[in-house]
Amino acid sequence: MIRYSRVVGTGGYLPEEVRTNEQISETVDTSDSWIYERTGIKSRRIAGAHESAASMAEIAARQAIEAAGCDPQTIDLIIVATGTPDLVYPSTGCLLQQRLGIKNAVAFDVQAACSGSIFALSIADQYIKSGAAKTVLVVGSEICSRIVDWTDRGTCILFGDGAGALLLSVTNEPGVLSTHIHSDGDFKDLLYCPLPQTSVNKNEQEAGYISMRGNEVFKVAVNTLGRIVDETLEANNMDRSEIDWLVPHQANIRIIAATAKKLKMSMKQVVVTLETQGNTSSASVLLAFNEAVRDGRIKRGQVVLLEAFGAGFTWGSALIKY
Ligand code: COA
Repeated sequence: MIRYSRVVGTGGYLPEEVRTNEQISETVDTSDSWIYERTGIKSRRIAGAHESAASMAEIAARQAIEAAGCDPQTIDLIIVATGTPDLVYPSTGCLLQQRLGIKNAVAFDVQAACSGSIFALSIADQYIKSGAAKTVLVVGSEICSRIVDWTDRGTCILFGDGAGALLLSVTNEPGVLSTHIHSDGDFKDLLYCPLPQTSVNKNEQEAGYISMRGNEVFKVAVNTLGRIVDETLEANNMDRSEIDWLVPHQANIRIIAATAKKLKMSMKQVVVTLETQGNTSSASVLLAFNEAVRDGRIKRGQVVLLEAFGAGFTWGSALIKY
């Protein structure tokens, strides 16, 4: 039998606190209109002091497991994508495993910045296709608000907190059609976040916050995402007209619109959560996918292209028959 992986459940969690552009404009030199016009963001969610990547992951994961109607003890692999783990170790995956009380699974984290969810999905798919796992929980969970310098208007306007999850299960019909992941370590200086305790250069300015040359990141992101669309279509011998939905990483509406244009897709076929969530890094694609599944936009049998781009640089896509 040829094995494929198939999405059997999705979940998501957003913290309660809403932080608007107006509120940010009170503390840094910016405005609602500047932020909205340049990024498409109006507000983002901010995790409470009691919350963490693991606590948010747990809520999203429980929703996905419930939607799938599956016994959590059948999960044999847990992969959490995060750049904001609760601890350096144990991994957030292990913390999530403990919270869910899942005994016979192996759990680990994937760190690919904003592309983390696609990387995790790709690994999960390989495990299932090879027969090494049958049911895999994939989660992206991020507390970006804690690694953002709230005095830097170039970055603090962009990010938000949240968690998204999906459960993949083995099946004999596709499923996940293909995944494609890439990295290029030459671009570290354009987007990075140091961990001061382990950094080689303990620069006092680098207090553990995101540092980004936004305009340069923007240009590489647009070109790279255009290329990954071509690669994904070619690998599946598919025409862009066969894609029903684009579920992109939510970094900037202008980047998303450029990818949609490349696919000749109307923005009505693009799932956009950016306006009220900002960029939730490795959670964003899974949150958007969950939202569109739950509100009935994405239907069984439809073809969905997921894509993301992030620090590293890392980038990737997944083509799914839902
Ligand atoms: N409010 C008002 N002005 C701002 C501002 C803000 N929040 N941030 C920057 N500016 C100013 C700059 O200082 C600059 O001023 P100057 O012309 O006087 O020098 C001007 O706006 C243009 O800055 P620039 O950085 O060229 O703007 P931009 O159009 O590229 O938009 C981003 C900035 C960050 C919104 C955009 O570059 C972006 O989204 N980049 C990609 C980010 C991304 O995807 N990151 C994550 C990857 S996963």
